[in-house]
Amino acid sequence: MDGVLGGYGHITAVDIDGSKQFLNSILSLDNPPSTNLALDCGAGIGRVSKNLLMPYFQKVDLVEQDEKFINTAKKNVGANNAKLGTLYQIGLQDFKPQKEYDVIWCQWVLGHLNDYDLIAFLERCSEALAENGVIVIKENIASLEVIEYDDDDSSVTRPYKLMQQIFEEANLRVVKVDVQTGFPKEIYPVHMFALVINT
Ligand SMILES: C[S@@+](CC[C@H](N)C(=O)[O-])C[C@H]1O[C@@H](n2cnc3c(N)ncnc32)[C@H](O)[C@@H]1O
Repeated sequence: MDGVLGGYGHITAVDIDGSKQFLNSILSLDNPPSTNLALDCGAGIGRVSKNLLMPYFQKVDLVEQDEKFINTAKKNVGANNAKLGTLYQIGLQDFKPQKEYDVIWCQWVLGHLNDYDLIAFLERCSEALAENGVIVIKENIASLEVIEYDDDDSSVTRPYKLMQQIFEEANLRVVKVDVQTGFPKEIYPVHMFALVINT
């Protein structure tokens, strides 16, 4: 847990609790998504799939590029778990969804994609949404208006304005946004966005 959360494994319960509240608010929208199939992007060791998505959805697919993590995810959620769908071992920049998803959940992974790959990825995700489907993004947001680079982690933390520009480029509209509470003060603010196709 510490490995996929940069030494902050202990915040997982608070994180999942905040995600549940956000997901509940999405499922209470006027035209909510169904709860048939979800996709966990950058799934790591299956933390979000197991603790958040599987209790809500009939089936959950996972995308994760790291072989060791995806094998651990399979063990963590239980290889015979009836809710476990397809495991895709591939980078999000190359991933082309093959099914229709009610919710596509992206958490703490999009900072590993450059802006162009991220926009293209979000466009492919929006094509793969089922009726009333929603993309959820839960990511660190830079406090200043500039991109922050982390060379150790090979990732970036984007400011709010850039996230908005990226959503616009990908023709997505924000229907809900919230900020995670209860996290340690020294870490980045974590925002949750619910996005639908901008018709
Ligand atoms: C900070 S961890 C978060 C894992 C999980 N989303 C969670 O919240 O527990 C980031 C994960 O993204 C994966 N990752 C990094 N770059 C990726 C990419 N281009 N495509 C897919 N997964 C990627 C890493 O292997 C790692 O499992």
